[in-house]
Formats: sequence, structure tokens, C-alpha cells
Amino acid sequence: MKYKIAQIEDIEKVLELHSKYQIDSIRQEDKKDGFITTAFTKEQMIDLITIEQGLFIAVNDEKVVAYVMSASWKFWSRWPMFAFMVEDLHNLEYLGQKLTVQNSYQYGPVCVDKEYRGSGVFEQIFDFARENMTKKFPILITFINKINTRSYEAHTKKLKLEVIKEFSYNNNNYYELVYDTSKSIFKKSK
Ligand SMILES: CC(C)(COP(=O)(O)OP(=O)(O)OC[C@H]1O[C@@H](n2cnc3c(N)ncnc32)[C@H](O)[C@@H]1OP(=O)(O)O)[C@@H](O)C(=O)NCCC(=O)NCCS
Repeated sequence: MKYKIAQIEDIEKVLELHSKYQIDSIRQEDKKDGFITTAFTKEQMIDLITIEQGLFIAVNDEKVVAYVMSASWKFWSRWPMFAFMVEDLHNLEYLGQKLTVQNSYQYGPVCVDKEYRGSGVFEQIFDFARENMTKKFPILITFINKINTRSYEAHTKKLKLEVIKEFSYNNNNYYELVYDTSKSIFKKSK
């Protein structure tokens, strides 16, 4: 398995994996093992890669089997839900700091293809993305739909992300979570 920062030529394969598990196109029977909320266009992927260097992928036999997207709030703010989260940042505190668009970024979506779940790819790709993003931001922020219990278990039990608040948006209920990007999940402390 190879972990790398995606390039433009990887976009088609990433979008293929993405559409398999995105809420609008996921198969009904797969939904219980998690789904992705946000939809993406090719143009948004190009910005994510060229402006943010924020698309991280796991490749096996030339197939993209997992991805993590991570980017500044400036990138995410084109989606109303992220703009809503930005408005609330100043009310939250973590690592002794008030959250801002300078000291934090938004991690996710993350996706691991069905055949690779539970294999450690999830932990590896999370840490690979974290290692790159810590160069720019001390604090990771993300959200998980309360009905996505698999993702919640994986992020809180395996990666030890912490719930910082709960909120509702467009009739969905979410956890908002944080993580100290200086901490590798493979070491007790830095
Ligand atoms: C969320 C995701 C990235 C996690 O990766 P993963 O490889 O499946 O994670 P793991 O299997 O290592 O860990 C999941 C844990 O939840 C548990 N679990 C499995 N199915 C579950 C379910 N339906 N409800 C609650 N917990 C569940 C597992 O038992 C496992 O814990 P364990 O290893 O201690 O038993 C992956 O499942 C995925 O891509 N899902 C589809 C897209 C998605 O939901 N993305 C996240 C959006 S916030």
C-alpha cells in the first residue's frame, strides 16, 4: 500500500471511490457502514489539490482504496454548512486557544473502500494526512453525522478525536470533533 498526496491525474479514481459512498449515490445496504455527506465536482478537486495540497490517498495495485481530504476553512467555506461552522469557531476553545481559521482546518471527508476496512488503512491514511497538515495547522476539526455510528466509533475509539460540541444543520444532528495535529496516533506522545 502506498500513501501519497494526490495529483490531478488521480482525480477520476478518487471521484469513483467517493461516489460509491456519498449519500446521494451510496447503495442502501452500504449505508450502515458509513457514508459521506459532501458532494464534489472535478473543479473543486482541482482546487483542493493545487491550492491546498489537501487530498491524501492510499493506492494499491494502481487503485485508489482510501482518501482523506483536508483543507483550510477558506476552501471549505463555499459549502454553506462549513460557512456555518466557521461562524461558530470563536465560541470554541481547544489546547488553550480560541479556535480560528488560522489555527484550525477541516479534516474530512475520509473514505476507505469496503474491502480495506478494519485493515489499518484508516489509521495509516489519517496519520499520513495529519503529518502533512501539522506543518500548517495545530488543530484539526471535523464533523460526523450522529447516525454514522461506524465513523464515530472509528474516530473516537481508534484515533481518539474528542467531541467539542454537538449541533444541528438542515435537520441532521452532528458531533463536532477536534484533534491535536502534533500527536501521531502511533505514539503515546510526540
Ligand atoms: C468511517 C471509515 C473511514 C472507518 O474506517 P474503517 O476501516 O471502517 O474503521 P475500522 O473498521 O478500523 O473501525 C471501525 C470500528 O467501528 C466498529 N463498527 C463497525 N461497524 C459499525 C457500526 N455499524 N456501528 C458502530 N460501530 C461499528 C468496528 O467494530 C470498528 O471497531 P473495532 O475494530 O474496535 O471492532 C470507513 O468505515 C468508511 O470509509 N466508511 C464509509 C464512508 C464514511 O462513513 N466516512 C466518514 C464520514 S464522517
